[in-house]
Amino acid sequence: PTRTDLAGLTVAVSTGGTREPIDPVRFLGNRSSGRQGVEVALAAADRGAQVRLVAAHVDDGVLSAVAHHPRIGLERVSTAGDLRTAMHAAAADADVAVMVAAVADFRVDAVSDEKIRKEDGDGTATLRLVANPDILAELVAARGEAQTIVGFAAETATEDAELLDRGRRKRARKGVDLLAVNRVDWARGFEAAENAVVVIDDADDVVTEVSGSKRAVADALWDAVLAHRAR
Ligand code: C5P
Repeated sequence: PTRTDLAGLTVAVSTGGTREPIDPVRFLGNRSSGRQGVEVALAAADRGAQVRLVAAHVDDGVLSAVAHHPRIGLERVSTAGDLRTAMHAAAADADVAVMVAAVADFRVDAVSDEKIRKEDGDGTATLRLVANPDILAELVAARGEAQTIVGFAAETATEDAELLDRGRRKRARKGVDLLAVNRVDWARGFEAAENAVVVIDDADDVVTEVSGSKRAVADALWDAVLAHRAR
């Protein structure tokens, strides 16, 4: 049975890993495949929402199902700076914004115009990094009255209590309505087909706990968003 419970909503979703250039041929990147964010976008679109997807770097083939979806508009970006501009535009009048992208915490301060040559140094090289702005926190600061802002947090923790504790602190620090805390280990999270997530709301309650396919996680997250908006 097709659900249309998100019809009438416009949602902005970011996904993938940003790349921060070092020189014309090198970058700082991360292991995000982009799959979870793409499933968040597809699940919303399949349930009737109008979706604006901002995709940084994703694995080959991950975007194929998005390309022809009638309710998904796709914008591709590379750096955290690009993603920031695109996401602010996408989220501005959206009902819901979900930041799934793995945004680089730092960028290279002075990107070299020319390829850095090992012959030029003394056997060492230093990269000076500067912090990127927290896009999620900016979206919260710019939030419209009826807007729901959702974040993801990839955490490695051996104890469930520790994972929850970190998630609650991060939710409060970022000021988001809902935070999906993503347990990252070798079998789940980055690069994997399966994921395990707990969703924490702004009363510090665990409103959803789901493990399974990235689509199942995405659908559970949208259920949590709908429940939160109906309060
Ligand atoms: O603090 P942490 O990086 O774990 O937070 C993760 C959440 O914040 C994700 O939703 C991610 O997309 C978002 N984020 C962001 N801007 C950054 C870093 C992370 O929006 N510069």
